[in-house]
Amino acid sequence: MVSLPIYMDHHATTPTDPRVVDSMQPFFSTKFGNPASRHHAFGWEARDAVDRARVQVSRLVGCDAREIVFTSGATESNNLAIKGCLKSVSRPARIVTVTTEHRAVLDPCRQLENEGVCVTYVRPREDGLVDVKEIEKALTPETVLLSVMTANNEIGVLQPIAELSALAHSHSVLFHTDATQAVGKIPFSSRALDVDLVSLTSHKIYGPKGVGALCIRRRRPRIQIKPMLDGGGHENGLRSGTLNVPAIVGFGYAAELCMAEMTEETARIQTLRDHLWRGLSAGLSGLQINGSMERRLPQNLNFSVAGVDGEALLLGLDDVALSSGAACTSVQPEPSHVLLSLGLSERLAVASVRFGLGRWNTVEEVDYVIEKVRRLVCRLREMSQA
Ligand SMILES: Cc1ncc(COP(=O)(O)O)c(C=O)c1O
Repeated sequence: MVSLPIYMDHHATTPTDPRVVDSMQPFFSTKFGNPASRHHAFGWEARDAVDRARVQVSRLVGCDAREIVFTSGATESNNLAIKGCLKSVSRPARIVTVTTEHRAVLDPCRQLENEGVCVTYVRPREDGLVDVKEIEKALTPETVLLSVMTANNEIGVLQPIAELSALAHSHSVLFHTDATQAVGKIPFSSRALDVDLVSLTSHKIYGPKGVGALCIRRRRPRIQIKPMLDGGGHENGLRSGTLNVPAIVGFGYAAELCMAEMTEETARIQTLRDHLWRGLSAGLSGLQINGSMERRLPQNLNFSVAGVDGEALLLGLDDVALSSGAACTSVQPEPSHVLLSLGLSERLAVASVRFGLGRWNTVEEVDYVIEKVRRLVCRLREMSQA
């Protein structure tokens, strides 16, 4: 027996691991100090906890603990990276990015465009991967920053980060990656990939919401970032404001758990994901995978269903939490900008579904979903032909 509803939307957010919740508890009660209080034990205790979390997060990202700046999440980290970089240069500047980035990258770029910065948005190939040569063509002498996400939040494709950072550096351009969907799910090392700026967030790795980090390279070269908040000068002056200690502690412990369990967990989830796809594609015709299947997060499946109405599909899957290829930002659902960039028609983009499998999904749940989707799609197709 499976318990309903089934959660398969782990790219949207992950449940907070109960072990993480336990690690946070004391910091709401007895250990309530402010890490900026330098003259008493309450402050020192909080400071030690934040320092520990900084080390835990830095190990997951593969950087030095001193390179971690705690933020409120990946949206803030991306804003700090992109605006902070561009506002620290005083010459005409350009950013190069990709049309399939998350809005937390695209919107700060658009905002900078309003302020006179030039932005080039490169379209990926049909499989969602960027063509490194196309990126190279877009780099001009005034380019300051190249920003390309590690793993796409909708189609899960994994961009060639090492190649892109090498390309950026060969043109004296800084390289930022929004690694929100990759860190904690697949091995990642900022140092090995030679990345200058990395954004991540806690709530995608079974930690609490409202906390994240930006990893900023300290040496060779030291990256100049203009802070967005003025205030008490916390986080080396880069992010003023009293630190959210319980959330930071939880984020740190969530990172440590991912480090310890990633290899086994990822293999298990990949087996479930492959079982899901085999079961669905064996029982139904007209399913089309969106994005490269080979270079993809093991937790992700995104496909379109030909011959059905997208809204009816989602409404019919009422006891399975997943995402559609439509963003409900208006009364009329908008087709996903990622799927349109891959060349899908609006109709097919809206009739797409994204599964994000996670820590507690089981094979029984996957079997339930296979049967549910199969029956629903058959019924919808019969109805549309009647
Ligand atoms: C790729 C990517 N970047 C940024 C974000 C925003 O993260 P946060 O919710 O921590 O601001 C998300 C969350 O959906 C994401 O998937």
